[in-house]
Amino acid sequence: MTQHSSAPATGTAPAVRTDASGAPAGWWRDAVIYQVYPRSFADGNGDGMGDLAGVRARLPYLADLGVDAVWLSPFYASPQADAGYDVADYRAIDPMFGDLHDADALIRDAHELGLRIIVDLVPNHSSDQHEWFQRALREGPGSPLRDRYHFRPGRGPKGEEPPNDWESIFGGPAWTRTENPDGTPGEWYLHLFAPEQPDFNWENEAVRDEFRSVLRFWLDMGVDGFRIDVAHGLVKAAGLPDMGRAGQLKLLGNQVLPFFDQDGVHEIYRSWRRILDEYPGERIGVAEAWTPSPERTALYLRADELHQAFNFHYLNTAWNAEALREVIDQSLDSMRPVGAPTTWVLSNHDVVRHRTRLGGGLARARAASLLMLALPGSAYVYQGEELGLPEVADLPDEVRQDPSFFKDNGQDGLRDGCRVPIPWTRAGSSHGFGSGGSWLPQPGQWAELSVEEQTGDPTSTLELYRSALAVRREHPALGAGESVQWLEDFPAGVLAFRRRAADGSGRDLICTANTTDRPVELSAAPGRALLASGEYEGGAIPADTTVWWEV
Ligand code: BGC
Repeated sequence: MTQHSSAPATGTAPAVRTDASGAPAGWWRDAVIYQVYPRSFADGNGDGMGDLAGVRARLPYLADLGVDAVWLSPFYASPQADAGYDVADYRAIDPMFGDLHDADALIRDAHELGLRIIVDLVPNHSSDQHEWFQRALREGPGSPLRDRYHFRPGRGPKGEEPPNDWESIFGGPAWTRTENPDGTPGEWYLHLFAPEQPDFNWENEAVRDEFRSVLRFWLDMGVDGFRIDVAHGLVKAAGLPDMGRAGQLKLLGNQVLPFFDQDGVHEIYRSWRRILDEYPGERIGVAEAWTPSPERTALYLRADELHQAFNFHYLNTAWNAEALREVIDQSLDSMRPVGAPTTWVLSNHDVVRHRTRLGGGLARARAASLLMLALPGSAYVYQGEELGLPEVADLPDEVRQDPSFFKDNGQDGLRDGCRVPIPWTRAGSSHGFGSGGSWLPQPGQWAELSVEEQTGDPTSTLELYRSALAVRREHPALGAGESVQWLEDFPAGVLAFRRRAADGSGRDLICTANTTDRPVELSAAPGRALLASGEYEGGAIPADTTVWWEV
């Protein structure tokens, strides 16, 4: 069989499940959430840069793909020092992306198509062009506005040393020295990321009030949730104590740091949850939280905090049956006590695309995707992974825009290679991305990976995703759930589990992922093959291939 299935037709608006009162019931527990990187999705005005009009025009594609929600990376007014993760005005759209009317129209159209909209909120830091920071600079030391950020005198006889030894995630010290209004060297300010991204001081009530107000602004605009950037970073240890060592990036995600995963962050999310719950329709908060363990991530998802968190432990796992089984178990086990859905993610705008990262080319990427979509909980799809796009590793240095590179955290290299505008058509300027070229050059291979090329081809990756999402929507054993039943009776290197039908129909599903680089013979087919990520015709499961079976 090819990857095709007897799945229901796609293209219809997703059915919204309701509880007894007619209210939607936990839509986010099994949602497939598609990440749009607005710069690189679709360009409506032909300036070479993606925008909201472009996204809006392509919403039918996303509805047809069969996802439940769309998360948009930041589109706010920003000098773009970190591709929009440096926000100058949290209530305005950057002109390069459009305006508030475009945002309103996009949200409305999405809802009509049955898609929910999640926006990115960046509360750890603002842009250095944010009005508060600019005024704080202008007013000089002693200004109450400086307390909204972390300004400190330097150490050393002339204050020429940074106030502590913290390092920026983007490299170098996490502090930059300011100039006083009279031109003399002044205080330093903290920035865990680029110097253009000063960290807010979350001990300051004005900061807390402001973000509660920003939440309400976007909730009133109709958004269905927030992806919370650097959710683990808002609170810093009292007194900003030295780390006492260099090479701090090595510790990221491995231990609680004086600037990451401090317990004080949870109180903030409890207050946000109260706001989210004031609005109808289950508005959600999704934590981007780099923590030392799934158990610490689960703390963000207690019943009175956020709804979901990205599972970076899963993203960082190699294509290896034992390692995958371990991380899947650990992920499910750690979410169970807090009752939150586990999430699964393979790619995003910060990491090497999984087709390249997993090291096995397209076949392995497809197998990994089909495995992910069979797991209990909610899944994230990064734009272009449904086309099987690889990382663009050979961008010339002069076109790169990423200010940073993450070191030693499984995220080697610059991040532009996963941000290249996606191909819609075989030919044309920027393969249909827009009429005016694209801000990062697309490789030649983009033609054959385009939406146009893949649509209707039953062997294409796009049609694999469409089929998988359609089966997932319809099948009683897929989607939400708290556990998998591992099946031991399979050859080494084959990850096999069973999921029980939630509706008592007995239509269980078995997922088998052959993670090895050779075909594996099964003693007997475990059921009726529903969908396969590669050419499965009965007999051996090909190398790097996942098969879904109905039992
Ligand atoms: C975002 C990055 C960004 C950083 C600073 C991250 O977690 O995903 O793209 O550079 O936060 O805002």
